[in-house]
Amino acid sequence: MILAVLTLSTFTAGAGFAADAKAGEAVYNRACKSCHGADGTPNPAIAKMMKVEMRDLKSPAVQALSDADIKTIVTAGKGKMHAIASVTGPAVDNVIAYVRTLK
Ligand code: HEC
Repeated sequence: MILAVLTLSTFTAGAGFAADAKAGEAVYNRACKSCHGADGTPNPAIAKMMKVEMRDLKSPAVQALSDADIKTIVTAGKGKMHAIASVTGPAVDNVIAYVRTLK
């Protein structure tokens, strides 16, 4: 596991700052999927529990948000969604790149 992390960071450093949707998929599955579903379809149990209407991440309305908007949502939260403290640095850009592939 430590080796995998080292390899990944070496690769990311070598690749510069380009966001990596493949790495973002792992972040998404760990930090977003439980609420937003595997493909961006909101988990109805979460929406009900949090008493909020959740929009599908694949929807044109959500895809119309800028990367900067999504970054703010992930790092600072929005409405009933708290900031995702476990996702920081390049992982934020990577998970946004992955969210773009859902549409
Ligand atoms: C604990 C459940 C939970 C987790 C984990 C979570 N979210 Fe959310 N997310 C929500 C809820 C609930 C909302 C709706 C908030 C509101 O409108 O009050 C939301 C809203 C959003 C929105 C805005 C959609 C809109 O309607 O404007 C985006 C984008 C988003 N989440 C992305 C992510 C990403 C990316 C991750 C992982 C890094 C993540 N979320 C993790 C619960 C979660």
